[in-house]
Parts: sequence; C-alpha cells; structure tokens
Amino acid sequence: MNISVERIKQSKISSVDFKNLGFGNYISDHMLVANYKNSQWQQPQITPFGEIPMTPAILSLHYGQSVFEGMKAFKNIKGEVSIFRPQRHHQRLLRSLERMCMPAISEALFIDSLCALIAADVSWIPDTEGSALYLRPVIFATESRLGVKISDEYKFVVLTSPVGPYFAKPVRVKVEEQYVRAAEGGTGFAKCAGNYGGAFYPAEQARQAGFDQVLWTDAKEHKYIDESGAMNVMFVFDGKLVTPQLSSSILDGVTRSSILTLAYDMGIPKEERKVSVAELKAGFENGKLTEAFGVGTAAVVSTIATINISGKDYSLPTDTNSSFQQRVKKKLNDIRMGNEPDIHNWNYNVPLQ
Ligand code: COI
Repeated sequence: MNISVERIKQSKISSVDFKNLGFGNYISDHMLVANYKNSQWQQPQITPFGEIPMTPAILSLHYGQSVFEGMKAFKNIKGEVSIFRPQRHHQRLLRSLERMCMPAISEALFIDSLCALIAADVSWIPDTEGSALYLRPVIFATESRLGVKISDEYKFVVLTSPVGPYFAKPVRVKVEEQYVRAAEGGTGFAKCAGNYGGAFYPAEQARQAGFDQVLWTDAKEHKYIDESGAMNVMFVFDGKLVTPQLSSSILDGVTRSSILTLAYDMGIPKEERKVSVAELKAGFENGKLTEAFGVGTAAVVSTIATINISGKDYSLPTDTNSSFQQRVKKKLNDIRMGNEPDIHNWNYNVPLQ
C-alpha cells in the first residue's frame, strides 16, 4: 500500500519528558487519516498531527457511531520494532464496527496504516521498561446531517502516544451495585466511545469516594463481576486463575486472552466462568482468594490492592514477587522485549525500510 507522508517541519519530541510519561499525555508528531465515501475506504495519508476540518453536524457527535482500538508497539533488545497482536485487535475492531453498523476495514489497510505511522514516528517509541508507544486507531461517522441514520461517510484516524504505566500504584476498586456499564445484548463487548462516556459518572462518584476504578457487575442483579471498564479482571482462588467468562457485556481483551494462554503454558489451572460478588467476599474471608488484578493493553497487569464490597474494604498483599501476576507480567514483557521466544507469534514486526 502506498501511503503518502507529509512530514512535520519541527518535531515536538524535545518537549516530552520520557522519564515521566504517564498515560496519554503526549501525542506523537504525525497522524494517519483515511476517508470512507462512495462505499469504500480511500487511500490513507500521514500528515503532521493537527486539526481535521469537520462540521458540527457530523453524525458521530450526535448519535455516537465511533469505535476505537488500543494497541502497543515496542522496541525490543535488538532494536526491532513490533506491534503486539494487531491481527487480534483487528478482529475485535470488526466486531465493534459491525455492532455499530459501520463499514469493515481490511486487515491490510489496518496493519499497513499502523506500520507506516510507527515508521514515521519511530523515535517516539520509548525504551524504558514498562513503557511503549500506544496506538489509538479510531473510526467515526463524518456524514454531515441531522436525521437519525447510519452514516454513509467515516474517517479512520490513527494517533500514537508514548506511554508509561496506566496506574502508578496498586489500585483500589469498588464493586458497583447501583450503576450499570453494559447489559446483555447491549454494546459492552464493543469498543465504542459511548461505553466509556456512560461510565464516567459512576467512575467519578467512586473516585470522589477514594477509589481508582469501579468493578462492574451484571446489569440484572449486580451479582456477578463483569470487568473494570479500562481492563478485564482476574483472580487467583486456591491456586487457580479465575476470570469472568466473556459475554455480550464484557470486552474480549487481547491481554486477557494472552494471559490465559500464558497461564496454560505455565501450568496454572484456569477457569473462565461466572464470578460472583459473594464468592469474592467468601474468598477474602476464608483466605482462598490470594490475588486480584486488572489486565488490558493500557493497564498491562495492574495489581488490585483493595476491593470494596457493599461499603467494606477487603485487601490483599501486593508485594509478593512469586505471585502469579508478577510472573505472568514478566513473561509477557520478556516475550515483547525478545528475552523469551515468541512461540505464539504475537509480535508483528514493523518494517522500518
Ligand atoms: C486500552 O487498554 O487500550 C484501552 O482502550 C483502555 C482505556 C485506555 C480506554
């Protein structure tokens, strides 16, 4: 694919504090944009990151046709650059697009676009442990019209951002027993913008009460754990890795899937099944629940230190190097950095010309 590149005149990279990246604070020099019209995707273009001309009538602003993905690119110990599992992210993007009545995008257009943009901003890939170049493709409706309809026009935009850890320290979460993120049959499994906007209010209430995130429960009874909004959740019960089984209200996380595969490789028994709030509470009380953590592209493996259930804090030890979460986090990192063979072919090599 021939993707044109208009390079920035003056790079902004000198303004980046690579030692204190945080998450999403910097956007790299270039962006990629492709338009969809007349029922097809047009040739993408890479330009300096900046404004895009649009009218306030574009349909995504009014009716929410907007889906995105989150991926990471890494530089390994040999200096090679790879994207972690872009084909699997593309498969999930297709499911999100279908649910939101948006046009599919081919794997070739998706991956070639990511590679070309990474090559343009290769100097933005951080190389300190725990950091990466976060890739944010977003597709949104751009037809300018007020009628409630499926848009006929879209933009595919990719931005990149050098990022550090999403959470600086172990997190405190609160089991949500009032608000709902997603119901069965809704859009919870899709990575659509509205899922995040709808979660802001309950998350803000939780934040004001001293929590980092909410632990979403099922919409019908608030009895079973779904996920945590920016990450899937996993538990270690009695030496077994346990995680809520996928449903239409849970995002099919790529890190979730990778960790389940690595647990198998490491000989750790795993269960994908319903996890009830009552079971968590009992696990804390009888000592069988030994670990809780969030997993996601941004969150990687984030230790959950405290879970608040019906107003009561239950805490777990967070500093054991022998814990499953620490071992699996290291294994994932070693695969990405090239310290361990990539037997599942998860690293997609980015050609840098
Ligand atoms: C990700 O992990 O990539 C996410 O999209 C979660 C959040 C940053 C929106």
